[in-house]
Amino acid sequence: MSIIPLCKTSEVDEGSAIKVDTEGLSLAVFNLNGAYYVLDDVCSHGPGSLSEGYIKGDTIECDFHNGSFSIITGEVVEPPCLIPQKTYKVVMDGETVCIET
Ligand code: FES
Repeated sequence: MSIIPLCKTSEVDEGSAIKVDTEGLSLAVFNLNGAYYVLDDVCSHGPGSLSEGYIKGDTIECDFHNGSFSIITGEVVEPPCLIPQKTYKVVMDGETVCIET
């Protein structure tokens, strides 16, 4: 098990997401009302980048074919995507958002 630091909390505004590439992973880091969630950035359905999608409540709509996922669980909310998006366990180290892998 390892802890991978991704970004500072100040880098992700509330209600937005940023893309972080690190350790061979391409990740989308979301800030929902001060809580941080991390999913794979590349959509499970194709080439869409979820960090560039549209956040609607606690879902993210992919800007490629407009499928959507729960930001919290990665479950599919709207097709055409069918495969849940991989999520990561977030751990905080002070003001640094990290994932545990
Ligand atoms: S690539 Fe994301 S919905 Fe198709």
